[in-house]
This record gives sequence, C-alpha cells and structure tokens, in this order.
Amino acid sequence: MVHINSITTAATIAVSLTSALTLVSAHIPLTTHSSGHGSHALEKRQAAPAAPTTGPSCNTTYAPVAAGSYPAIDCVPFTHDPQVQTWLKLVDFSKTPVFPPSQKGVCPTDKTSIPQDQCWWTCQKCEAPDDITSCPTTGTWGLTFDDGPSPDSPRLYDNLLEHNQKATLFIVGSRAVSLPATLKRAYNEGHQIAIHAWSHNSMTSLTNEQIVAELKWTEKAIFDTIGVTPIYWRPPFGDVDARVRNIAAQLGLKTSIWTQDFDTNDWNIPAGAATPQSVVDTFKGWLAKIPSMPHGFIVLEHDLFPEEVNVSINGVLPVAYATKGLLMQPIAQCLNDGKPYKEGAGTFKLLPGGSGGSNGTNPGNKNSAIGLGDAREGQEVLTVSAVTFFVAFVMNL
Ligand SMILES: *[C@@H]1O[C@H](CO)[C@@H](O)[C@H](O)[C@H]1NC(C)=O
Ligand SMILES: *[C@@H]1O[C@H](CO)[C@@H](O)[C@H](O)[C@H]1NC(C)=O
Ligand SMILES: *[C@@H]1O[C@H](CO)[C@@H](O)[C@H](O)[C@H]1NC(C)=O
Ligand SMILES: [Zn+2]
Repeated sequence: MVHINSITTAATIAVSLTSALTLVSAHIPLTTHSSGHGSHALEKRQAAPAAPTTGPSCNTTYAPVAAGSYPAIDCVPFTHDPQVQTWLKLVDFSKTPVFPPSQKGVCPTDKTSIPQDQCWWTCQKCEAPDDITSCPTTGTWGLTFDDGPSPDSPRLYDNLLEHNQKATLFIVGSRAVSLPATLKRAYNEGHQIAIHAWSHNSMTSLTNEQIVAELKWTEKAIFDTIGVTPIYWRPPFGDVDARVRNIAAQLGLKTSIWTQDFDTNDWNIPAGAATPQSVVDTFKGWLAKIPSMPHGFIVLEHDLFPEEVNVSINGVLPVAYATKGLLMQPIAQCLNDGKPYKEGAGTFKLLPGGSGGSNGTNPGNKNSAIGLGDAREGQEVLTVSAVTFFVAFVMNL
C-alpha cells in the first residue's frame, strides 16, 4: 500500500472534485452542502462537489416544504418540517445505537479509536450481518449504477435495453425530481429502482432526524414518480455505520453496498484522477479473480457524469457482455428476490434460475457461472496505475 499522507494531497483532490462540478448541466444543480455544516474537507468515493461553487446555496432559514413540493435540491432537508415530523414517528430512536455524527464521513486519523460495534463500513471495512455486499453465486455480478437519473442516463439505458440487460439503479431524490421522465423510463424498462439519498451527503455525518428526512424524501420522490416504494438503499460513498443502518432498517430498507474493492473508480474520471483506460484495466483485473471467489460480487458504477456513462457503454459493459460465464443481474435478481418494492414486483421480473443461475438473457452470458473463459486476459492488465493507488489511499483516510 502506498502511503501518501498530507493535507496537501487531500486538498488537491478536493480542488479537482470541485472543478468536476463545471461539467454538470446547469439545469441539474449538484452543489452539495448541508445546512449547519462547514464546507467539505474531503470527498471520497464519488465525484460529489467538495464545496459550493455553482448552483443554489442551501438556505439555512427554515421554511416548511410547500404542499406537493420537495425540499431544496441537493440540500439536507429541514427536520422541523411537518412532513418530516410525521416520518420521525416511524422510528423508535431509543433502539438506535448512539454514535457521534462524523465530520463529513471522513475517518479519524486513528481508526482504532472507533468502537468495534460502530461497524463503520468506510472506516473499519466492517460489514453487518444484514448488509448486502455480494451476490451469492460465483461469477454473478450485481450490476448497479448510482446517482442518476442524469441527462446522460438515457444513453446508458439505451445500451442496457439493446442487450436486454437489467440493473439496479440507486436514485438520488434531488435528481428524481429534476428528471422524473428519465426515472419513469428506467422503471418501465424493468430496472430495479432503489434509494440512494436526497442530498448525497455522508449519512454518518447527519443527525438521526436528518437521516430519516433524506431517506423518506427520496422514497417519496420515487413513489410520486413511479408509484412504488423501493426496499433497497445504498448509502452515498458506502458511508454507513450501526446508527445509520438501524434507522434505515426501521424504515424497512435493506442496506446494499458493494463488494470491498469492487469500485470501478469511474467517479474519478470526471474528478480528473482516473482515465477510462485505468477503469477498464481495473475491471479486467477482477476477471482474473472472479472464478476463484466463493461468491459473486457487486460493483460500484455511476451514471451521473457523461464520462461515467461513456466508460460503461464504451469500456466496461462491452467487455462484460463478451465474457463467457459472467452473469450480470440486478441485486434483487441475484438474491432471488422477486419483490424489490413494498408494493411487490412492480415492473421487476424475476427470471427463473434466480440466484445467479444459468439463465442470463444476454447471448454472451448464457453459460454456466464457472470457467470464465477470458479470465487470463485480466491477469495481463492487473497492474493498477499509480493514480489509482494514490486515490485509493486518499479515499481511505
Ligand atoms: C431563505 O429562506 C427564507 C424562508 O423561506 C426566505 O425568507 C429567504 O428569502 C431565503 N433566502 C434566500 C437567500 O433565498
Ligand atoms: C461521451 O460520449 C459522447 C458520445 O460518444 C461524446 O459526444 C462525449 O463528448 C463524451 N463525453 C465525455 C465527457 O467524454
Ligand atoms: C430463461 O428465461 C427466459 C426469460 O424469462 C424464459 O423465457 C425461458 O423459459 C427461461 N429458460 C429456462 C431454461 O429456464
Ligand atoms: Zn452516490
């Protein structure tokens, strides 16, 4: 492991993430800064903006959300809102473990200072028994895309449709209310729609009440658009601990992360710290180890920035479609769960063969889930670029 430890490295990354903001369409504001918190010291995992630059600032003066409306885009919703107050009654906070909110999800320098039972995924690599972090069957890939719907999502959906490929989409509430027609399309095409968050802040940095507000407003935005209530959710940046998990579980949500180290780093392309080639190389490196894993895996990818969609449709997915024995499925499919919504199946169709069986719908993916024919190809490109190491280290701060 390369050890680079200085404030300067963190600041460099923060600045490059901020510049990524300028790539975003003006009508989809993405400025992420919560009321009551300082500017981001460091963002991890995704190209979320590090500090307010463009777009609306979050107004710190409380006003109730108007009937039929939603909280300010990309701002942590107010918890005094009467609607939120109603939702708070769904959770018995006396059952919620008490851990202090983090500083923007950044791990303390001394990670051993974190109590074991906090089980903080990002800082302790701790998985709780109920966390969904892999698909059960070897060779099965839980295909997921986070942070949409964006103006670039339709290009991803086109590609998936062309290959009769379904995915799990973790939706940001603020994006859903900006592009409801895009979300509707994704749902109508049978993708598994799931919850991400409203403002895309680190969940461990929020209060119990703010966590409820983030999850329930996103759930409501999705329900208002497609008429179903997702059961699966993914914490932004994978940032979850025992406190956050408990609240999500009390709201009936299943915490779904990704398999440790199965982060394509696609989010680092718009941030300027990865290239499409390094992302594809990372992915090809996995192909070598997938056949010998005792289970399948879930991969982190995104469809917020054009670079992320481009690397999926031009780089990662074509290789994956062509890899014999690799079966890509939405998470609910690989877990053999035909009811990913509180209302039931919705448009989601559970294929026979369930948990990573041999009935993939892609022509290239109908083989049994063993003997990944092209796996050796991956070993040749296992060398990960220095920039990937560098970023991987900064993310682990
Ligand atoms: C902030 O919100 C308050 C309450 O709705 C409103 O009166 C005020 O004009 C807002 N300020 C800005 C800068 O938008
Ligand atoms: C993404 O791909 C499209 C279509 O090929 C291209 O027009 C666009 O410039 C690409 N965007 C980026 C940021 O790479
Ligand atoms: C495979 O799945 C397709 C689509 O659901 C279905 O029509 C077909 O009967 C299945 N085949 C087997 C062998 O289960
Ligand atoms: Zn995200």
